[in-house]
Amino acid sequence: MVRLLLYSAQVLAVTVAGVGAQSSKSLAGNTYDYVIVGGGTAGLALATRLSLGLPNTKIIVIEAGASGLHEDGINVPGLKGSTIGGKYDWFFPTIPQKALNDRVVFNPRGKVLGGSSALNLITWDRPAAREIDKWKELGNPGWGWKEMEAAMERAETFVGGPPGSGTNGPVYALYNRQQATFLEAVAPAVSSLHGIPLNSDSIQGNPIGIGFQPTNVNPMSYNRSYSANAYLPKAKSNLVVLTETRVAKVNLKKSGKLQRATGVTLTDGIVITARKEVILSAGSIQSPNLLELSGIGRTDILKAAKIKQLIDLPGVGENYQEHILVSISYQIRDDFITGDRINYNATYREEQWNRRLNNQSSWFDDARFSILFANWKQIIGGSDKNQVALARSALAGSKDVGHKWKLEQLSDPKIPQIEMIFTSRYFGNKGYPPVGSPLRGKGYMAIIAGLMHPIATGSVHIDPANATLGNPIIDPKFLNNEYDIQGLIHALKFARKIFQTEPLKSVVVEEYEPGLDAVKTDADWRNYLLKNMGIIFHPMCTAAMLPKKDGGVVDPKLVVYGTENLRVVDASVIPVQVSAHPQTVVYGIAEKAAEFIIKEAKGKL
Ligand SMILES: Cc1cc2nc3c(=O)[nH]c(=O)nc-3n(C[C@H](O)[C@H](O)[C@H](O)COP(=O)(O)OP(=O)(O)OC[C@H]3O[C@@H](n4cnc5c(N)ncnc54)[C@H](O)[C@@H]3O)c2cc1C
Ligand SMILES: *[C@@H]1O[C@H](CO)[C@@H](O)[C@H](O)[C@H]1NC(C)=O
Ligand SMILES: *[C@@H]1O[C@H](CO)[C@@H](O)[C@H](O)[C@H]1NC(C)=O
Ligand SMILES: *[C@@H]1O[C@H](CO)[C@@H](O)[C@H](O)[C@H]1NC(C)=O
Ligand SMILES: *[C@@H]1O[C@H](CO)[C@@H](O)[C@H](O)[C@H]1NC(C)=O
Repeated sequence: MVRLLLYSAQVLAVTVAGVGAQSSKSLAGNTYDYVIVGGGTAGLALATRLSLGLPNTKIIVIEAGASGLHEDGINVPGLKGSTIGGKYDWFFPTIPQKALNDRVVFNPRGKVLGGSSALNLITWDRPAAREIDKWKELGNPGWGWKEMEAAMERAETFVGGPPGSGTNGPVYALYNRQQATFLEAVAPAVSSLHGIPLNSDSIQGNPIGIGFQPTNVNPMSYNRSYSANAYLPKAKSNLVVLTETRVAKVNLKKSGKLQRATGVTLTDGIVITARKEVILSAGSIQSPNLLELSGIGRTDILKAAKIKQLIDLPGVGENYQEHILVSISYQIRDDFITGDRINYNATYREEQWNRRLNNQSSWFDDARFSILFANWKQIIGGSDKNQVALARSALAGSKDVGHKWKLEQLSDPKIPQIEMIFTSRYFGNKGYPPVGSPLRGKGYMAIIAGLMHPIATGSVHIDPANATLGNPIIDPKFLNNEYDIQGLIHALKFARKIFQTEPLKSVVVEEYEPGLDAVKTDADWRNYLLKNMGIIFHPMCTAAMLPKKDGGVVDPKLVVYGTENLRVVDASVIPVQVSAHPQTVVYGIAEKAAEFIIKEAKGKL
């Protein structure tokens, strides 16, 4: 343990000592075997594995954000969410969304060592096995559930996990010791409806059902376990991590019929050379942007930005998919404590903080939500034929492989279409009752309903007016079809029904928002939805691992089409949208990539 921590200090000494332009200048002319752009979730997992597996190579990770290793808002599970919109967050706006009356939706994305794994809400789960098997069927040998499950397990040590979960990986997962008592009423209520099963082992490829989800928390410190404090300390000194340094583009050079990545140029003009490979792990918004900045992408986009096109690759930045959500919230009976209390009662907050300092369970550990994953029949409580008809009409004539798959899996009983998150504290739209309100000091819970495979498919591209440093142009096309709208209305109506079901019914005082009087009809729900739709922060598929003819950007070895040695390794390569919170999938992608990159390097040595 001590040795590992020293190692982390050593690696980070390079990082911290070399902050900003100063450090990059001192690196000028420096050459590495592997240059990894983005020290986020996948980037640090991959870099650490390469450092261990290829001890005779030199690896550099270049991260735009700073280290947040000592930041309470990142480490303390109960403070999750507090970093959103702050200095560790890119917080990219979408362009105004037409169906939302031109509302802009913000995208938190980690701008910090660890990337979005430092900002996320610490839910640890996996999609349905069938969803990952589809990756293989779409033309990606080696990427079925069996292989990905093994890779995801290599990332984790699941303390108290079900048989078969990971026992030796860097990231810790556990069933959180802090448990909101009132949340225990959720599963009995939900499972008494529509034949929904109890399920607390959702990570083994069968997510359908209601249960408490695991959380990625270190059992010794009860801190968030994420790529920066879990993987990075295991790396050797052949890995250099450079923080607060932003990459402007990948440098390419013609090599026969292909382009060869020779390194990267930083925003201050410094060049870092790659002997073997450049790997983009900048996340599903910025990895496709970096491809475009490097001359790889759609002709019209590059032309508008006056960037010379080196590779015509129409899939770059397309296929943007996100999990959309809407929440309603309930006031809880006064004899139950919710996580809200640490926010409005300073004495209680201090008591709970001291419990944490003494390593006792406290609201500062809290990250454990009760989650339902359900198919349409379970949400609707009857036939799903209307939803199926809406999907068919929205996608009529589409040849897109992702769309075809969305239709194919709609009625698969094992694939979730809706997720519902039951929270341990207020998590709504209009805000916790403000000072002066008679409701301040009450406890609340929210139910967040998320659509797992919305039909709306958008894009992310560079801003032609400010391509390198400006915000990307994100257009997810939210709610551009009736399937997505009606799906969330079904979910909201079912959510209300759950709260009218015992034993949950007796736990709540009343619906706080929207309120039984404010919203009664489908038309009311629709209004509510358009005003309040948000996102679960899961953009993916923007540099999809698919055949090029199907809009793919990378091949099954994650190499960008038309290049020899440029890969993308992060959430952008997910071929088709999956139903889970994606961090375990992202770690799995990094683990698999490390496996074949190491194999290839050894084969060539
Ligand atoms: C608020 C929030 C809550 C979430 N909750 C959950 C959850 O509870 N469970 C779950 O499973 N998933 C959750 N997710 C999603 C999950 O965290 C992400 O899908 C995953 O972390 C993405 O990993 P990545 O490697 O693709 O990108 P990231 O982890 O975002 O890494 C990209 C990195 O690249 C860096 N970068 C970008 N551009 C450049 C550049 N030009 N130069 C240098 N560096 C650059 C960024 O700063 C960042 O560090 C959540 C996400 C957010 C934001
Ligand atoms: C856990 O988090 C706290 C709060 O940020 C931090 O002070 C401490 O160093 C962390 N512990 C470990 C072992 O990382
Ligand atoms: C804190 O308590 C947990 C049990 O909840 C235990 O496993 C862990 O080792 C303790 N950590 C320390 C640093 O004592
Ligand atoms: C605040 O917390 C303290 C300590 O738990 C408790 O004694 C007190 O009743 C609480 N006050 C309110 C208004 O909830
Ligand atoms: C480009 O965007 C960055 C970041 O928002 C901003 O600081 C800069 O002023 C912009 N440049 C131009 C020319 O608009």
